[in-house]
Amino acid sequence: MKLNITCIPGDGIGPEIVAEAKKVLDHVALQFGHEIVYTDILMGGASIDVHGVPLTDEAIETAKNADAVLMGSIGGDTTTSPWYKLAPELRPEAGLLKIRKALNLFANLRPAVLYDELAAACPLKEEISKAGFDLLIMRELTGGLYFGERKTVTENGVRKAVDTLTYNEEEIRRIAIKGFDIARKRKKKVTSVDKANVLDSSRLWRAVTEEVAKDYPDVTLEHMLVDNCAMQLVKDPAQFDVILTENMFGDILSDEASMVTGSIGMLASASLNDTKFGLYEPSHGSAPDIAGKNIANPIATILSAAMMLRYSFDLDREADAVEAAVKQVLKEGYRTIDIMSEGCTQVSCSEMGSLLAERIG
Ligand code: IPM
Ligand code: MG
Repeated sequence: MKLNITCIPGDGIGPEIVAEAKKVLDHVALQFGHEIVYTDILMGGASIDVHGVPLTDEAIETAKNADAVLMGSIGGDTTTSPWYKLAPELRPEAGLLKIRKALNLFANLRPAVLYDELAAACPLKEEISKAGFDLLIMRELTGGLYFGERKTVTENGVRKAVDTLTYNEEEIRRIAIKGFDIARKRKKKVTSVDKANVLDSSRLWRAVTEEVAKDYPDVTLEHMLVDNCAMQLVKDPAQFDVILTENMFGDILSDEASMVTGSIGMLASASLNDTKFGLYEPSHGSAPDIAGKNIANPIATILSAAMMLRYSFDLDREADAVEAAVKQVLKEGYRTIDIMSEGCTQVSCSEMGSLLAERIG
């Protein structure tokens, strides 16, 4: 099969971790008889430095013409990087929001899994973590506060900023359907998270979610307020299967969920539209403080590449092989510095990529 992949190395550790994901994908292609064509595009600070904008229309066109996009990370240190002296619409993150909207990537899947081998890194008390957890946050990605009307004005000498949180029922319905579909393939439970005790947009979210649930009698739906959900994630994460939520709540809860695993460097994500097309990226950021040191953990990006094989190309065997290689390497005791523990062998970013590639096939 021919795989036409657009890569966005991006900023910070992005180029290092994407290089390792390509190393692993190349090995998959070799072992399973596929051909991969990569086309790199610039986004974020890397694009600002060359083009003065965080994402060009040409780059979007290139991505649109691919079967899938593999991304590293974008952005820099918000207090020291010159990128953050630019107007908001010219900063690195604006490129990410632009590509999500342009490619209609409304469904963001963020799995948070407690790996047995890394249980020691979990910051929760053992009596909680021993139950294990394997949850998935289904975050709406192209609506809500991120894309509502915003402005900053001065009224009678007083500065005022406005952000708008809008959802229509169609936007809610399509993400709810994605959430229920994936729950059906998992533990058949959807926890829809909202702030329906205060917000109208949440009350509509709840109503539409209940309508969608009627088509999924085999899936249990429960509602949870977002503040309670933040507590429950540290109190009893094993209760969750699929957490279905809007853009901003999903942003915050997915960071919390990934931290609770103790291994944010291991967590993949996929952003999907209504077709097989998707953008795949690690759940972590660009970590500018460790960029260029060859110490970043490439596993989250490599697992994102596995999600890409599974969701965009239907290559389940190949995706299984990548995931099995990750488990194997962890079992053999190899660790990058972020997940290092006593008795294990510390390896660099590129060594981790090579170890994984060697174990495929
Ligand atoms: C994420 C990030 C982005 C977001 C930023 C970089 C705009 O935090 O993917 O979670 O808030 O969506
Ligand atoms: Mg975030």
